[in-house]
Amino acid sequence: MKIAVAKGDGIGPEIMSAVLKIFEANKVPLEYEMVDMGKWVFDKGFSNGMTPEAQQTIERLGILFKGPMETPKGKGVKSVNVTARKTWNTYANKRVFQTLHGVDTVFSKAGIPIDITVVRENIEDTYGGIEHMLTHDVALSRRFITRPGSLQVIRYAFEMARQKNARRITCGHKANIMKITDGLFLECFYEVAKEYPDLKADDIIVDDLCMKLVTRPDTFDVVVLTNLQGDIVSDLCAGLVGGLGFAPSANIGDHICIFEAVHGTAPDIAGKNIANPTALLLSGFAMLRHLGLTQNAAIIENALLYTLEQGVHTGDFGDKSKASLNTTEFADAIISNFGRTPELNAKPIIANKPGTPTPLKLEKNTMLESKELVNEQIIGVDMFIESNEQPDAIAKKCQRHAGVKFNLINISNRGTQVWPTGSVYTNLVNQYNVRFESIDDHQLNQQDVIGLYVSLSGDFKIPSLELLNKWGDKKGYSSAAGQ
Ligand code: NAI
Repeated sequence: MKIAVAKGDGIGPEIMSAVLKIFEANKVPLEYEMVDMGKWVFDKGFSNGMTPEAQQTIERLGILFKGPMETPKGKGVKSVNVTARKTWNTYANKRVFQTLHGVDTVFSKAGIPIDITVVRENIEDTYGGIEHMLTHDVALSRRFITRPGSLQVIRYAFEMARQKNARRITCGHKANIMKITDGLFLECFYEVAKEYPDLKADDIIVDDLCMKLVTRPDTFDVVVLTNLQGDIVSDLCAGLVGGLGFAPSANIGDHICIFEAVHGTAPDIAGKNIANPTALLLSGFAMLRHLGLTQNAAIIENALLYTLEQGVHTGDFGDKSKASLNTTEFADAIISNFGRTPELNAKPIIANKPGTPTPLKLEKNTMLESKELVNEQIIGVDMFIESNEQPDAIAKKCQRHAGVKFNLINISNRGTQVWPTGSVYTNLVNQYNVRFESIDDHQLNQQDVIGLYVSLSGDFKIPSLELLNKWGDKKGYSSAAGQ
């Protein structure tokens, strides 16, 4: 079997060499095609951080094993890590956090075992990076949460939880504030939960989740979250089990999968051969098991667990009174322990059943679309206008433009209503949201909205607008605070 390998930037080449050395010593039946991705590829002028040849190779082989990659600071360049996950629709980011015997943490010392799998949505949310300056003072980020995208990752989480015999599957969210976006994610969670009556499914607000993860991490099993919240919560979980050096990550898609560590390029220790390769090695086990190489995975994992149990460590963890090993020495220590079994959590040796990673060749992009809801109606529009006038003055001007089809409903500033009622204590910025709705539920069309836009643009710059849609009784827009 062949897989694509990208060594990455910073500590990437050092930890990747260590892991591949361990694989080779264990005669893992894999061949590697090296691909060009990362900072130096950006520097050569490839704006997405990968060469076209790298893209073709990964699409041909279906598996990418990658080291961390640096996102060059500065305008206009997107993270190649995020681009790779999004381009190949690796919609589920699975991150496993387990107590490792020999890696001391407050919880291991207190005898509290941790085994948490975070499934993070990997495509949507603010990671679209769709951002605009509406005025010179006001930046806007668009946060996409979609029904098909949410269903895809949530279904994966339930399926994985069932295979793992999970005690509990929990949806972390902020649907109390982001009622439409996180509300949709939560709705999808309970929709899928109905298909898995054997699993205990519940939900928790993400801030409460963070508090409970640090006080009672042993009560959680599988946690599924949207992209940004999942990113933050998974770093928190990494801290619970000893830090980023122990946090593996699998990006799962239907056709292409990417295996990598959670951590970044660690520029502060790059080139010193002192980085901890464990997180990349743990990601490698997930990859080997994904490819059916269960025997190799178990032998190497047992050797790693045994090595950690012996108190062998790199500089970032472990007993400081014992000398630490460098990256190469740590890899050699693991190799020397092949065939040994750890006292705790030994993995059963299951014979390899290699599959084929070659992805199905697709002829066109897959359209993810759920059943259309009936009775879609445009009932109004939110005009995002630029102005530094007071709300009453804006309202007077807007009412002149409302004409016979629209009513001016309210005006808000940073999501807080400031007209028709509000408080003089609300601070204002130079961007308002002016909401118009149709008079007497009159059916509106896009031309009506454009007519209003043209009229209103005589008085204001309108950098953005959103239609107010309704499906039956279901409103597709939020209310302002204080409305
Ligand atoms: P980082 O994860 O690289 O480093 C944070 C801290 O953890 C540093 O003190 C570092 O020395 C330490 N650390 C990380 N991995 C370690 C390891 N294996 N062994 C020992 N210590 C380790 O995060 P930072 O500094 O925020 O990001 C640096 C660069 O990495 C940025 O350009 C960022 O965009 C990129 N990055 C890439 C990721 C990826 O490729 N998936 C993920 C996160 C960041």
